[in-house]
Formats: sequence, structure tokens, C-alpha cells
Amino acid sequence: MNGIIIYWSETGNTESMALRISDDTKFEAKRVEDVNVLDVLKYDNIVLGCPAMGAEELEETTFRPFFDKLLEKVDNQKLFLFGSWGWGGGEYMSLWEDEVKNSGKNLGCKGICGNGDASSFDEDEYDAFLNAINN
Ligand SMILES: Cc1cc2nc3c(=O)[nH]c(=O)nc-3n(C[C@H](O)[C@H](O)[C@H](O)COP(=O)(O)O)c2cc1C
Repeated sequence: MNGIIIYWSETGNTESMALRISDDTKFEAKRVEDVNVLDVLKYDNIVLGCPAMGAEELEETTFRPFFDKLLEKVDNQKLFLFGSWGWGGGEYMSLWEDEVKNSGKNLGCKGICGNGDASSFDEDEYDAFLNAINN
């Protein structure tokens, strides 16, 4: 089982989630600014983190272009989504999940998100997220 965590974070909430998931999966966590798509495609499990930005959107300058390119090129790999939100109740996560599903690519499981840092995850949902990654 191999995998990598790629994330964007401005104020540290999504980063704290990335580091928690890294602790629990032993996958390396890297900032999206520090990777390229071709390197990421070498992993079977690709765990992606981005907070809600814009109006229920992915961060548009760095993360969105990376994600668009990744989604176009990804094949049999499984994608897992996580991130932080402030006021939208996680609506952006549903939109993000739909985008992966509608592309026909593999969404490993329901995305996980919370209002704040890694301690804002629903713990049952977080367990299910980790189990899906490990299966
Ligand atoms: C420019 C901007 C746009 C945002 N848009 C949304 C949004 O549409 N919905 C929402 O729930 N939170 C929104 N937020 C709140 C962030 O998602 C929230 O603060 C999050 O915890 C930031 O994650 P980070 O610490 O990893 O950068 C926005 C924050 C900023 C700065």
C-alpha cells in the first residue's frame, strides 16, 4: 500500500489535517507548491487536501490548476479528499466529490472535512476515511 498526501493551506487548518493523516497512514505529506503531477501519479493512493475558498471552491491559484491536471491524468489510482471550511458547512466538499465522480475517476470514499483544524473531524467519519485508505 503506497500513497501520498498533497495539500494547500493558508492558515494551517488543512495542514494540521494533512499531518494527522500522515501520522495515521505513514504517507508523506507535501505542500502542493512542492510537487508536480507526474511524481504524484506514481502513488496508488493520492490523498488531497484543500480548504473551502472563493465561494465553496478550491483554492484557485495553486491547488485548482494542480487538481485539474491530476484529474485529467489519473487512471487506476484512488483519490481521497479532505479539508477545512469556515462557514459553508462543508458544501464545497460535496461539490469536490461530485467533480471526481463525474469525471469517472476513482474516489476512494466520502471526503472528510471540518470547521477548523484536524480536531474538527467527526471521529467516526475519520475512522471510516482511514479504513478506506487502508483497504
Ligand atoms: C478567501 C477565502 C475564501 C473562503 N471561502 C470559504 C467558503 O466559501 N466557504 C467556507 O466554508 N469557508 C470559506 N473560507 C474559510 C476557510 O475555508 C477556512 O478558514 C479554512 O479553515 C482555511 O483553511 P487553512 O487554515 O488550511 O488555510 C474562506 C476563507 C478565505 C480566506
